[in-house]
Amino acid sequence: MRCSIAAAGSIIDRRPVVHGRPLAADGEAGSLVARRGRVMRSYLTHLECTACGATYPADRLATTCPACAKVLYARYDLAAAARQMTKAALASRPWNLWRYAEILPVRDPDAAPRLGEGGTPLLAVPALGRAFDLDRLMVKDEGRNPTGSFKARGLAMAVARAKELGARAVAIPSAGNAAAAMAAYAARAGLPAHVVMPADTPAAIRAECHALGARVMLVAGLINDAGKIVRENAAARGWFDVSTLKEPYRVEGKKTMGLELAEELGWRLPDAIVYPTGGGTGIVGMWKAFAELEAMGLIGPKRPKMIVVQAEGCAPIVRAYERGERQAPLWEDAATIAPGMRVPVAIGDYLILDAIRESGGTAVTVSDAELMEGVRLAAAGEGLFIAPEAGAAVIAARKLRASGFLERGDEVVIFVTGTGLKHTDLIDAAALVVEPGDTATIAALLDAAGPGTHVRSIDTSEHPA
Ligand SMILES: Cc1ncc(COP(=O)(O)O)c(C=O)c1O
Ligand SMILES: [Zn+2]
Repeated sequence: MRCSIAAAGSIIDRRPVVHGRPLAADGEAGSLVARRGRVMRSYLTHLECTACGATYPADRLATTCPACAKVLYARYDLAAAARQMTKAALASRPWNLWRYAEILPVRDPDAAPRLGEGGTPLLAVPALGRAFDLDRLMVKDEGRNPTGSFKARGLAMAVARAKELGARAVAIPSAGNAAAAMAAYAARAGLPAHVVMPADTPAAIRAECHALGARVMLVAGLINDAGKIVRENAAARGWFDVSTLKEPYRVEGKKTMGLELAEELGWRLPDAIVYPTGGGTGIVGMWKAFAELEAMGLIGPKRPKMIVVQAEGCAPIVRAYERGERQAPLWEDAATIAPGMRVPVAIGDYLILDAIRESGGTAVTVSDAELMEGVRLAAAGEGLFIAPEAGAAVIAARKLRASGFLERGDEVVIFVTGTGLKHTDLIDAAALVVEPGDTATIAALLDAAGPGTHVRSIDTSEHPA
């Protein structure tokens, strides 16, 4: 096995190389039977309540804790898993999230609906780093996932598990990306998909859900209003509700972002992770991943500072963090142009807040104008057209360096949670149309633009650290 170390600006490619060539990103034969003939299998043992500690059997459809209604986590025989999921064994597995099958809940990964989820690149972003005075700034580009966001990881797992345990249809209240991901995996699994989301969800996402064959309902409200509709109809209509953290397996899929990050960095973790946060499964999933990796002896006790980023117009977690509370009450009149962060209340609030505090992290807000600046900086400076939520994380990194919370030499990973391609409505793309033969107008326009103005670079003087 050989690993190539990233030069500035290059892909940090730690994909295993077998016989001198990297494995195909999504496996070659479609089978998860590992080379050397050993079948990869889940070491899932039971479910455990994150609040009251009650335990439950894993192999039946589960929602929240029957005793206290809090979040259930999947638990594994980590000692046995560690004997199979060794660094050497991982070296011969395809670079997608199923490589961690021992600590994923799906009993039969070969039967799971798969679309090439996970295995996203970790990219150095030196232009942003120079502009922000951060020498070791990186992004994990989750926009490369099926359906263009990190939500694919969680929904791949939740839909696979729902199907495996006998669900006949799946339903989701969503800010948008999760609905698209669920619709895609449900289509792949042959399950009917029911989606409820805010009426002002970006048109591209609404179109995506329709195209993927989901039944789409739009609500004049937010994701919590959508959640109520799903909750009130699920039982009677035979839907299995895969709302964030209301079933135990989406978080298992999100966990794989943390597993990949540790592996890509050579089995260590960065100094800080900056994450745009709504329902919080990204943050809590990675936090769970790190604990499991340590228990398996794959990493040490060092943890990154977990940094939650929310929008000024919807910041329940930031408010609770600042007040020293462990619960985050509903944020009234939530408003932001970043749909994934328009989540006024999170069932996993205590898990998110614990991760921030235990890691020595923090929670910050950015304005809508700032997050769009983040989108522009990443696009023009690094060639990454990112979702507005990710733009917020970019600006949060700059703010935290400016405040001194982050140090110049810190290794900082920003999670680019989604692609900008679903949000073209936020970009001013107006341009004059010229007649092909109108050389006078063409020349006038080109002269007005001036030489080289199409080459945009980040002006560091505008963004003092
Ligand atoms: C692009 C994007 N980023 C971030 C988030 C927030 O993720 P989470 O709900 O896991 O905190 C979402 C949620 O919809 C999203 O779509
Ligand atoms: Zn409980």
